[in-house]
Amino acid sequence: DWTPGNVIADQVAAIRAQIGDARVICALSGGVDSAVAAALVQEAVGDQLTCVHVDHGLMRAGEVEQIENDFVASTGVNLVIRDEKERFLAALDGVRDPETKRKIIGREFIRVFEDAQRDIVAEAGAHGEQVRFLVQGTLYPDVVESGGGEGAANIKSHHNVGGLPDDLQFELVEPLRTLFKDEVRAVGRELGVPEEIVSRQPFPGPGLGIRIVGEVTAERLETLRKADAIAREELTRAGLDGEIWQCPVVLLADVRSVGVQGDGRTYGHPIVLRPVSSEDAMTADWTRLPYDVLSVISTRITNEVSEVNRVVLDVTSKPPGTIEWE
Ligand code: XMP
Repeated sequence: DWTPGNVIADQVAAIRAQIGDARVICALSGGVDSAVAAALVQEAVGDQLTCVHVDHGLMRAGEVEQIENDFVASTGVNLVIRDEKERFLAALDGVRDPETKRKIIGREFIRVFEDAQRDIVAEAGAHGEQVRFLVQGTLYPDVVESGGGEGAANIKSHHNVGGLPDDLQFELVEPLRTLFKDEVRAVGRELGVPEEIVSRQPFPGPGLGIRIVGEVTAERLETLRKADAIAREELTRAGLDGEIWQCPVVLLADVRSVGVQGDGRTYGHPIVLRPVSSEDAMTADWTRLPYDVLSVISTRITNEVSEVNRVVLDVTSKPPGTIEWE
């Protein structure tokens, strides 16, 4: 009988048998998979687990707080947050090429995570404890895909928390290996993981770094974060979250257009809305959002985000367009 409760009971027993009394580390991205994997391991071995969140400064509004406050409050995990915003901005300085951005963000992520790992190992060692395990939120479709699937994997270099260093020092703990996404969500709810995390739509590992067409700067991130927060708020308010797979909001930082606001001419940037419907992200169609919702989003973004004077809608399916712009 498949129930979230049974899965939790089985996995808790399996995790305890695997880990014993060793210490274990988990990278928390803010996404569903790593959060539910961490919550399961926490349920099984409690304080033996230390979670690490690398704050690369490329998350959307409120997301780091969701992990830092809500997730910790509901699961009780030990969380270390590495504030590395400046480091990522410096590494991305002057970079405009999408693949280069992806590689830099992935590389810096691994370096920061390795530093954090080293600190945790040293701290545990000082107490005579060993850190031997690394939690990964690998799902069943990931297992199938990496077993020889080609797919679209080579179109963009992917970065996610699964893409961690091949460190032989650690043995992997993968409590979600037999589950599909909707099952992971059910398990997460049963474990009390906050609904905003459990029902979160897909979000790329390189974050807003690949939703700014052009160079990534602190100011541009702030502009995009404001526009994205408005779009998400209005989609939720209109009850449309269930209808869209995700809706990337993209800042065309290298493009400017002329506008008029109040009694003055503006020369600002466009924001692109990219709402898509999909089953598995391999193919997608653009979502026919109601005009009145698009209108509210457009009005609010151009009124409330000073750098933006135009909002455009992406009406391209995948293929030929990918879901993300970079
Ligand atoms: P594309 O743009 O390739 O995106 O059509 C397909 C899906 O993958 C997400 N995406 C990523 N997810 N790391 C991730 O974990 C990444 O580097 C990455 N790049 C794209 C994208 O949001 C969409 O859901």
